[in-house]
Amino acid sequence: MTIDTRIFRITDNNFGGVIKETSQIIQEGGTVAFPTETVYGLGADALNPDAVLKIFEAKGRPADNPLIVHVADRKQCTELAQDIPEMASRLMDAFWPGPLTLILKCKTIIPDITTGGLDTVGLRMPDDRIALELIRCAGTPIAAPSANRSGYPSPTNAEHVVHDLEGRIDAVIDGGNVNIGVESTVVDMTANVPVILRPGNISAEDIKRCIGAVQIGYTDRRMSGDERVRSPGMKYTHYSPKADVILVEGELSEVADAITALIADHYGKGMHVGLLVSNEVARIVSADATFLLGKGQDPSQAARSIFMGLRHLDNENMDLIIVDGSIKNEGVGTAVFNRLRKAADRIIKI
Ligand code: TXA
Ligand code: MG
Repeated sequence: MTIDTRIFRITDNNFGGVIKETSQIIQEGGTVAFPTETVYGLGADALNPDAVLKIFEAKGRPADNPLIVHVADRKQCTELAQDIPEMASRLMDAFWPGPLTLILKCKTIIPDITTGGLDTVGLRMPDDRIALELIRCAGTPIAAPSANRSGYPSPTNAEHVVHDLEGRIDAVIDGGNVNIGVESTVVDMTANVPVILRPGNISAEDIKRCIGAVQIGYTDRRMSGDERVRSPGMKYTHYSPKADVILVEGELSEVADAITALIADHYGKGMHVGLLVSNEVARIVSADATFLLGKGQDPSQAARSIFMGLRHLDNENMDLIIVDGSIKNEGVGTAVFNRLRKAADRIIKI
């Protein structure tokens, strides 16, 4: 597959023109990668099966893994979903536009390929001016998974998208680095008590405060192919760089000691070792390459850095990436640990 991928660097000056051109590509059944507040998405017309097929082909994504459908207004939701429960409306009021995907019973207007053959659809209204204008101007809901090759870390800037998908998609809108850095919270609203299928920036506590109760339906483990899961995406390998990844979890000083020992051990074997660590741990340990996760007490900084760090250290050809798990596991920290545990080949708990 070699397509001439057009890259549009969007600014205040060319905003309208870029949106017009890229929304036309969507209308004509093409694929456009675009920023959202969470990660970059690879978009196509959600109602056009031929267009949606191009997303699966470009990413190498398994056909049973459904796509999130992005909307620009609440009216689009009623066209796509049936029996929207009162609790879902309350969550939309509280958190949309924002990093929250709601799984709802879908209407037949949505092609099977978009939902992976399920009778539900994940809807999300992104909190990003470029994404919202693209959807509005295209005049159709946009199906968009994260714009990475399947299995690789999600892209948090346009360079990551180009690295993974150049020659495989029609266009990329370069809107700079994203704000949040981990994908949206996914909540299944079809159960009596809603279930969180993927943690994100909107926490379980945020959701509980809004609707009273919510269940946790995800695990941080890598799942094997035949385990029964509610969200098909959970069973696939995720966020895996080429290098081996070891996550060391515990208190700061013990984690730093354990990382020091791991570095010595792997240097002894002639391996190149990269570190993905908090500012605090970086003051204590050093290796061949280091990517900072920010202050360990502020998980939002880690959220913005984990995927970029894994990609950076992979490009530096590290054999091993050691990740600092002394980051605060609260709020978006829950999502950070979920992604890091899934990325890790080995987890050491101290
Ligand atoms: O922040 C995000 O959600 C980003 C941006 C681009 O919006 N999108 C994203 O999409 O992360 P993706 O495809 O990489 O992850 C979507 C997850 C997958 O694990 C998928 O299985 C699950 O949501 N999902 C989508 N539709 C579903 C459905 N109807 N039922 C259960 N899970 C669903
Ligand atoms: Mg993804």
